Amino acid sequence: RRRVLSGIQPTSDSFHLGNYLGAVRQWVELQDEFDAFYFIPDMHALTVQFDPSVLADRTRMSVAQLLAVGVDPARSTVYVQSHVPEIAQLTWVLNCITGFGEASRMTQFKDKAAKQGVESSSVGLFTYPILMAADILAFQVDQVPVGEDQRQHLELTRDLAQRFNKRFGKAFTVPQAYIVKEFAKIYDLQNPTAKMSKSAETDKGLINLLDDPKRSAKKIRSAVTDTGSEVAFDPENKPGVSNLLTIQSALSGVEVADLVAKYEGKGYGDLKVETADVLSDFVTPLRGRVDEYLADPAYLDGILADGAARARSVASATLRDVYDKVGFLAPS
Ligand code: TYM
Repeated sequence: RRRVLSGIQPTSDSFHLGNYLGAVRQWVELQDEFDAFYFIPDMHALTVQFDPSVLADRTRMSVAQLLAVGVDPARSTVYVQSHVPEIAQLTWVLNCITGFGEASRMTQFKDKAAKQGVESSSVGLFTYPILMAADILAFQVDQVPVGEDQRQHLELTRDLAQRFNKRFGKAFTVPQAYIVKEFAKIYDLQNPTAKMSKSAETDKGLINLLDDPKRSAKKIRSAVTDTGSEVAFDPENKPGVSNLLTIQSALSGVEVADLVAKYEGKGYGDLKVETADVLSDFVTPLRGRVDEYLADPAYLDGILADGAARARSVASATLRDVYDKVGFLAPS
């Protein structure tokens, strides 16, 4: 069976709407058709400022959210990155076939390093995309469902796979990014030309799935809209309104065109109120399910133990092949 893999960082208590619509929702759909691997990249969470006292809890909360949105551990392999040491081992080999200049061109690194100053950025932040390449290449993956901001990292992953295969013999499947255009970039409600992100200056434009829906409704009501009063889908001239239409459409299953027709003769106020209602209908049961999973940490840990065992069996086969191909002496 063809394989799909993706990850979401445990850098916050809650997934945000961009994470969900841009990526995680697709994970749920793809697990029917693919052999699916979904994981929490806790090693990636160390590449920026992190708090050791909350990381384990956030890792469990991330798993609880994955299950609550419909990732099914009976069909998908669900695991934590640091439980699969073969990933870090493979990263070293990939580090050694990545050009320094090539890594320096990663725009996410440049953005993050510029924000916090290059001098105070870690080497981990610099090699982050290579760890991500190992996450993927260790598992012989066909498709990687992500948002637009991960596209360049996927390109690097493909380049490294092709380079290794050519230089040392075929060890890796060359993966493809699976990016759904309509949802590849959900925008900040206050700044609808920037992506929704937990590292934005304020969280006023950020919708967290686990927040009280009343709080999110307030944020939606004060979302920046556009001049004019007509509800139209026009991302270029009406980015704020278009973003709300995208969100409401995704959560309700009603086509954007049908929403636009429905709002004919109505104003932005109706669009906002109804978008908030649709969000509330979605997150209210979700929050309940997350709480139920969190109340049973032994169940979650059992899923992660099974997931790590399956993940290690796949990753260790790749690693053994890679070690042979680069000429490491096998331990006796
Ligand atoms: P992360 O944890 O930042 O985000 C998880 C997923 O959410 C997507 N995303 C968005 N999509 C649409 N609109 C937005 N505003 C938005 N914000 C975030 C991201 O594109 C991502 O798909 N490096 C990855 C995690 C990772 C990974 C991997 C992914 C580590 N190893 C291997 C795939 C395969 C990251 O930081 O995603």
